[in-house]
Amino acid sequence: MPLLFKKVKELRNFLKSKRCEGKEVGFVPTMGYLHEGHAELIKLARMQNDVVVVSIFVNPTQFGEGEDYDRYPRDLERDLELCERLGVDVVFAPDEKEMYPAGYRTRVCVGELGKVLEGAFRPGHFDGVATVVVKLFNIVQPDRAYFGEKDYQQLKIIQQVVQDLNVPVEIVPVPVVREKDGLAYSSRNVYLKPEERESARAIYRSFLLAEKMIKAGERDAERIKQAMKAFIERHPHVKAVDYVEITDENLKPKKRVEKGDRILVAVRVGNARLIDNWKVEA
Ligand code: PAJ
Repeated sequence: MPLLFKKVKELRNFLKSKRCEGKEVGFVPTMGYLHEGHAELIKLARMQNDVVVVSIFVNPTQFGEGEDYDRYPRDLERDLELCERLGVDVVFAPDEKEMYPAGYRTRVCVGELGKVLEGAFRPGHFDGVATVVVKLFNIVQPDRAYFGEKDYQQLKIIQQVVQDLNVPVEIVPVPVVREKDGLAYSSRNVYLKPEERESARAIYRSFLLAEKMIKAGERDAERIKQAMKAFIERHPHVKAVDYVEITDENLKPKKRVEKGDRILVAVRVGNARLIDNWKVEA
């Protein structure tokens, strides 16, 4: 079993001794309820570092009012078993008081990049993400940290924060990991009822539709977005398409689509709000 630490001080003491031995530390921050997507990040961290630390903390400051903080799935036992199978050395699972003790005040403000796309639907979300990630970086002081492209905007924001605040960590991106039917792995997929899954799959299929249009010569972003939105909305359990956007790799919206651009989507299916994105190949 990996070592389990719940206190910042204990984790710091352990990692200090490792660093003194000249060991490199790889870090995978998560909110737990681990799946194959997380596993890919952990496997890469395992290959590139001497010590692998996984944090499991459902961070209250990145959830808005009325969002799913209370019902977010949690299962530490199961997570520890998966971490063991993947050769994780240390799991850091603090409680809320350990991360945000009484009197806690400071918040990282990420600015414009945090106000578009996801940020427009979840005000303050990325400030909460950046705050907890900077805290975790300061606690773990990793050489490398692993982030999934599944949360593409989050990845871009963390890269920006690390650059702006001179945080001495290398951010390693990992491509989206999908289930066999194309649905991106997510802890939130447990919210989907069996009959809603087919509708959730429409997100992946809309990327294939876009890819097909682009391969056939369509370059107009607006027409591709409209076709994707109409396709997704046709599915019975889709409550809303929050956005379909096409941007360059730095999240700047595009009018004409090129290879390497990103298509980003957020859709509400049943009780789940799903996000996904796709790198244009054509
Ligand atoms: P969480 O949703 O648990 O995700 C942890 C990491 O796993 C993130 O970097 C995310 O992008 C990555 N990930 C999740 N599903 C993936 C998939 N299908 N393919 C590839 N990577 C995937 O993201 C968070 O937690 C939190 O915001 C956090 C960064 C931990 C801050 O609280």
